[in-house]
Amino acid sequence: MTKPLTLGLAGLGTVGVGVVKLLQQNADLYAARTGRRVELRAVTARSKDKDRGVDLSGYDWEDDAVSLAKRDDIDVFVEVMGGSEGAAKDATLAALASGKDVVSANKALLALHGQQIAQMADDAGRSIRYEAAVAGGIPVIKSLAEGLAGNRMTRVMGVMNGTCNYILTRMESAGLSYDEVFAEADQLGYLEADPTLDVGGIDAGHKLALLVALAFGTQVDFDGVELEGIQQITARDIHHAADLGYRIKLLGVAQMTDAGLEQRMSPCLVPAASPLGQLEGGTNMCVLEGDAVQQVVLRGPGAGEGPTASAVLGDILDLARGIRIPAFGVPAAQLKAAPSVKSAVAAPYYLRLELRDEPGALARMAQVLAEHGISIDRMRQREHSESPATVLIVTHAVQRSALDAALADLPQTGVLGDTPLAIRIEKV
Ligand code: NAP
Ligand code: HSE
Repeated sequence: MTKPLTLGLAGLGTVGVGVVKLLQQNADLYAARTGRRVELRAVTARSKDKDRGVDLSGYDWEDDAVSLAKRDDIDVFVEVMGGSEGAAKDATLAALASGKDVVSANKALLALHGQQIAQMADDAGRSIRYEAAVAGGIPVIKSLAEGLAGNRMTRVMGVMNGTCNYILTRMESAGLSYDEVFAEADQLGYLEADPTLDVGGIDAGHKLALLVALAFGTQVDFDGVELEGIQQITARDIHHAADLGYRIKLLGVAQMTDAGLEQRMSPCLVPAASPLGQLEGGTNMCVLEGDAVQQVVLRGPGAGEGPTASAVLGDILDLARGIRIPAFGVPAAQLKAAPSVKSAVAAPYYLRLELRDEPGALARMAQVLAEHGISIDRMRQREHSESPATVLIVTHAVQRSALDAALADLPQTGVLGDTPLAIRIEKV
């Protein structure tokens, strides 16, 4: 049998402990699959004394991640600490510089420093693998880098933050407000330490930026992702959307347009009957579209000990087999710097308007839409006893820039009772 593949593991939290458990439970299976033993040599975390529910006595302890990354007796540095700066970044760069391959679950690090890290891996003739960083247990990175490599990708979409999908679906099923479900998600431990990463769309935006680089051969450009969170979505919007045959999802969408690369992570309406529309709870879904395959839909758990460790092990076993692919599918030096464009593709929008209940209010609002070339497809006003009245509109396809201009002009009509909400209706 070939010599063992040896690992150093930085981080012994949810993901790290899951990796240790799989390595202990499935050692023979991995040896059979790769033709060599996969052996954990050393670990690190912040606290040496914490009981983590797994036996760590067979591994060396390192006090800091950079020392672990540089150890002579490891082939692969596994980074599951998290954080876009500090120890995670320093240790990842140190590992590559000292000739190790790296397996990472760290979407924030890669979304912000992916180009530098990919370049460094290429220069060192090493590999950086990151399946667990995007959509947890779903093998979406491998699908794009390998299974779909024969395609020119046309669009990638994904619901990639389980916490937001849990909040939105729970608001609908339990009839609870955003604040009530947010508190529930907090109790259940679903939220990141900084919840804005979840509900502000940042975590999912990091994941989208990585998928985009791989799908379109472009430099990772998290700053180019148009970000909008779910904080403004009310239970009423969810029910209005359902009435119209839609569900609201925090959806990532990216496509290469003639004007440049469009990357969006924002609430969208999708048909309730579509696979994305039917996605419940913390589950993730990635939709990959290519010129030859048309559409592939991947669904699975986006977080948690088992699913994330599964993805980390997939990467480790590839390295054990000697499979090395550039981080984003082509050598880092060949990744293109694509100009980024905001919502370049026209789409219909759902508008929720609170209009003062007085003669001419509807006409004045419609006049402003007309002045910006916005045509109404459907409109609904429910029976109401108080002013303002809620008016729901579905527009025909419109450029976001025209819609924004109309929304900016609407307050001048004097008929608005509240700030309007606009949500894109995505064709999926
Ligand atoms: P976690 O439970 O908070 O664990 C983080 C671990 O890293 C802890 O063991 C911590 O040590 C250690 N650590 C933190 N800073 C350190 C430092 N400066 N030096 C050494 N050790 C340090 O986090 P997690 O949920 O496992 O997530 C780890 C990574 O996977 C993150 O990048 C996350 O975004 C990513 N990820 C997580 C999931 C998920 O479902 N949890 C899914 C996909 C991706 P102590 O235990 O001693 O504090
Ligand atoms: N906060 C993330 C989520 C964890 O809710 O999906 C997995 O990346």
